[in-house]
Amino acid sequence: MALAPPRLIDRGDLLAALDDAAASKVTIISAPAGSGKTSLLRAWADRPGQPRRLAIVQVRRDQQDAQVFCLALLDAVRHARGAPSGVAAPAATPDFNAPAMVDRVLAELAEAGRDIMLVIEDLHELRSPETFGQLTRLLTNLPAGVHALLTTRRDLPLRLHQLRLAGELAEIRAADLRFTEHETRELLAAS
Ligand SMILES: Nc1ncnc2c1ncn2[C@@H]1O[C@H](COP(=O)(O)OP(=O)(O)OP(=O)(O)O)[C@@H](O)[C@H]1O
Ligand SMILES: [Mg+2]
Repeated sequence: MALAPPRLIDRGDLLAALDDAAASKVTIISAPAGSGKTSLLRAWADRPGQPRRLAIVQVRRDQQDAQVFCLALLDAVRHARGAPSGVAAPAATPDFNAPAMVDRVLAELAEAGRDIMLVIEDLHELRSPETFGQLTRLLTNLPAGVHALLTTRRDLPLRLHQLRLAGELAEIRAADLRFTEHETRELLAAS
């Protein structure tokens, strides 16, 4: 018997906070497992009237290296642009050039026009310093009208201080995700 998905309680204030945060170039939701990062992201993305096209990458355990990660990014951007997923995507090769691939992702984002949101879920799964280096370059060179929203269980070795100084980095943390007393009551009543 299939179980109905649990009903999410409405977290309107948090959605508004995420909306504000998402006006920044880069938003990071950083909080431990089970804090509600994905649930918030889904509720925000599914809201009626969401004006952005989302390019979503879910980092899986087997997707830690730069090559697999960059190919997933390119595929997600193409999908958000309406290109059939996987078509003409470069295949994994031994002479893979990560900086060139990031340039390609940036070029396709620029061509995609405004209101694209690059969503990367579970970035704590990435391991290699090279991948974090390339991701930093991607995030600090996003074309006009393109934003990024990242989720992670831990703080990441990304060098984003310039974005922070420019007021273009927003962070949502565990304390922000904590249920209020009212929300806890609602959750208990619903279960
Ligand atoms: N608004 C909500 N209403 C009801 N349940 C919620 C809500 N937000 C989160 N939960 C519940 O809390 C649990 C954890 O949420 P979620 O998967 O979003 O966490 P997460 O931070 O993404 O965790 P992980 O780091 O493991 O990916 C889920 O089972 C979800 O059903
Ligand atoms: Mg999650």
